[in-house]
Amino acid sequence: MLIEQEISEKININAFQNDLISWFKNEQRDLPWRKDQDPYKVWVSEIMLQQTRVDTVIPYFNRFIDWFPTINDLAEADEDKVLKAWEGLGYYSRVRNLQSAVKEVKEKYNGEVPNSPKEIGELKGVGPYTAGAILSIAYGIPEPAVDGNVMRVLSRILSIWEDIAKPSSRKVFEKAVRELISHEDPSSFNQALMELGALICTPTSPSCLLCPVRDHCHAFFEGVQHELPIKTKKTKSREVQLAAVILTDKTGKIVIHKRPANGLLANLWEFPNIELHHPMQNDREQVVPLFKETLNLEINLDQIIGQIDHVFSHLVWNINVYTGIINAKFQETDEWKLVSIEEMKAYAFPVPYQKMFKLYQSH
Ligand code: ADE
Repeated sequence: MLIEQEISEKININAFQNDLISWFKNEQRDLPWRKDQDPYKVWVSEIMLQQTRVDTVIPYFNRFIDWFPTINDLAEADEDKVLKAWEGLGYYSRVRNLQSAVKEVKEKYNGEVPNSPKEIGELKGVGPYTAGAILSIAYGIPEPAVDGNVMRVLSRILSIWEDIAKPSSRKVFEKAVRELISHEDPSSFNQALMELGALICTPTSPSCLLCPVRDHCHAFFEGVQHELPIKTKKTKSREVQLAAVILTDKTGKIVIHKRPANGLLANLWEFPNIELHHPMQNDREQVVPLFKETLNLEINLDQIIGQIDHVFSHLVWNINVYTGIINAKFQETDEWKLVSIEEMKAYAFPVPYQKMFKLYQSH
């Protein structure tokens, strides 16, 4: 195993850098955030890419930059519009943190993303990975940018058998990158590791025969590329039962509700829903009084129209979907609105409620 051994004894660092970077320069994908080195755009792309695939991110990135082309535009934007731009991407605290951090950059750094590891790392939502990615890609500073993909690639190349699911393992890989990284072209080096992870050194079926750094790869040499990385499984997600209703008034307008400012899916919009703590409550008779007790909504509930499952990182929602008619006169507030289907388009709904609305329209 590597850890105790010097990296320079295990690998020819110069040859490795050259093979990796030449391959990247020839084979890299044409991605919208690679058109220039604007630190703001690099930042936005890296935040989007943290939990989301490149193909999904591309249209979101283009629209985001179209709506908020500069730090100033994002700092001054209405939060509802910012959430709308992120609608469907998930992990919404990413964009709330991004907007807070951008406001800080505007006020404290005159709108220039700082280029020191300390200052950039203090911005909200900017962890060591994002800091390293911005510093290397936008500013050419040789800092590591280690995420799960980079850990997978390096665990194979250097035959590192640390459990990459453990938060403490990242330090081991950062140390390795500090030794391996090209000081002439840190931007290409870090992006090449990411690109290798995306195109060649993939999780379950690495294309070793096409790999530009196969000659440097200890896992390939030892025949253990399928056994690495070591990654323990996370614990099972908690399951939550919900009942939710597409609630209309006489004119066909729909009741929507803004979620609280804190917690899961904060400040996004939803259809009225309640948590069912006991399976017994999983029928119409039980649900109606619960809506009254919990949300003070007087409703006439129709039959269930279907069920939606949605998997979050640590949680599964199982939603029973009903339609219903609002009983009493409905009073609009900041959190409760009665909207037409056309008006609904301006509000940001998380994916489970988008699925629910599709179900409603097709039932
Ligand atoms: N994954 C994370 N960062 C990336 C980037 N800059 N380009 C492509 N894929 C990535």
